[in-house]
Amino acid sequence: MHSQWLFFFFIISSCFVALCSSASLPVKAVNLGGWLLTEGWMTPWLFDNIPNRQMLDGTQMQLKSLKLNMYISAESGGDSIIVANRTSASGWETFKLWRVSETTFNLRVFQGQFVRQSTKSSRLVAMATNPTASEQFVIIRNLNNPSRVRIRAPNGLFVQAKTADVVTADYSQEGTNWGNNDPSVFEMTLLDGQLTGEFQLTNGYGSSAASVLRNHWNTYITEDDFRSMANDKLTAVRIPVGWWIASDQNPPKPFVGGSLQILDNAFTWAEKYNLGVIVDLHAPPGGSQNGNDHSGTRDGTKDWGTTDVSIDQTVAVIDFLASRYAQRSGFLAIELINEPLAPGVTLESLKKYYQAGYNAVRKHTTDAYVILSNRLGPVDPTELLQFSKGLNKAVIDVHYYNLYTDTFRDMTTVQQNIDYVNNNRANELNTVMVANGPLVFVGEWTGEWYRTEASKQDYQKFVQAQLNVFGGATFGWAYWSWKNNDQQNHWSLKWMIDNGYISL
Ligand SMILES: *[C@@H]1O[C@H](CO)[C@@H](O)[C@H](O)[C@H]1NC(C)=O
Repeated sequence: MHSQWLFFFFIISSCFVALCSSASLPVKAVNLGGWLLTEGWMTPWLFDNIPNRQMLDGTQMQLKSLKLNMYISAESGGDSIIVANRTSASGWETFKLWRVSETTFNLRVFQGQFVRQSTKSSRLVAMATNPTASEQFVIIRNLNNPSRVRIRAPNGLFVQAKTADVVTADYSQEGTNWGNNDPSVFEMTLLDGQLTGEFQLTNGYGSSAASVLRNHWNTYITEDDFRSMANDKLTAVRIPVGWWIASDQNPPKPFVGGSLQILDNAFTWAEKYNLGVIVDLHAPPGGSQNGNDHSGTRDGTKDWGTTDVSIDQTVAVIDFLASRYAQRSGFLAIELINEPLAPGVTLESLKKYYQAGYNAVRKHTTDAYVILSNRLGPVDPTELLQFSKGLNKAVIDVHYYNLYTDTFRDMTTVQQNIDYVNNNRANELNTVMVANGPLVFVGEWTGEWYRTEASKQDYQKFVQAQLNVFGGATFGWAYWSWKNNDQQNHWSLKWMIDNGYISL
């Protein structure tokens, strides 16, 4: 009897480890992008009601003195004076906004300092490393011509371009005709490529951010979606999250709490429909690993991993997530950081983080796979293989988009794109998948490309080629993404399946 019970127990527990634990490999997964972590290109409507929507955190601004017909510049890119002697504008003439309120901003210069008034004169300088009240400028837009602005300095006076090398905060005349002769009137250009991530959204809405996001979390993806994914023969979901989820309910401002409960719900639904969950830390604390919206960045500065502090903080987030979900049967894997970008993120600091992050996960579970994202940028895709051999259940994540570089922009035919998948991608995948090495995951790919004039049949062929090649990845693949807006249908796996472009 006793031994029978033991045997029974053995069956049950091995079942938990081998069979009954979530998705079997390789997974056919989908990313739940734009859900618990804002990506404005996917969900632009979320930004619609932000006051002064054009001027968000990280928005890049250039100012031209109309009187001098010259651009304002941070001399030397920063750590020096502000001048007005440039006939054209590029890096040193570009200021990144940090939004204090709808109308009040800090102005960050090329080298990272903030503009303020000199302590010795009324001149503007770019010297401050941290923005305080002395670095807050009110930008007043002309209602009839909103690209004409005046800028009120913290001393209550307006900024003026007196001469080509003297820009001061001492213009006291309140009234203006907004004409070219007024030295306190500037032409403001807001550059394209505005960041629209979680920081921009939450800081843009301020106190109403929580209700906007909670409504989004509760409606964008629901249990019905998990049921559909299972019906569509998907076996796992990859869920991007931001670091502030670890300090739910009271994350540091401007982030808002509540997404942890939604992630809990995702586990419950995934378990109900037999889908594995890959928790993916897309936005790490202590800086951005790639400058993209989805890294949770304020202004695109790529500074993650340059200090041990950001690495330690990130390990703490992984520790929290692993501890919370270690016992959940749906917990398939955790991805330690998404898309670190070389050369800013060095291989050395990344390995240091991956080792510490791996150890943090293993404190709580030996079952969950630990996913290591390859670096983006000019790197050898095998650079993590040697390192990860020492880790149990490690997975290398590669992202394969026929987008973003000239290689793909320069392709003029559908067939070139398909050939690239069949040849280059297949070869690269084979160099990363080595005997006794880590598993390999194509954690992001999509049906969209630069051949947007292509026919439905072309899309079908392109997608099928990717399914064939990425289907050989030992850990599996994940499409980006489950949903997207109606301008981006090919980026939505749900749309692609519902409309007969993909069948699994
Ligand atoms: C702009 O003014 C600064 C300060 O006088 C000077 O050092 C710099 O050479 C000037 N640049 C141009 C392009 O005139």
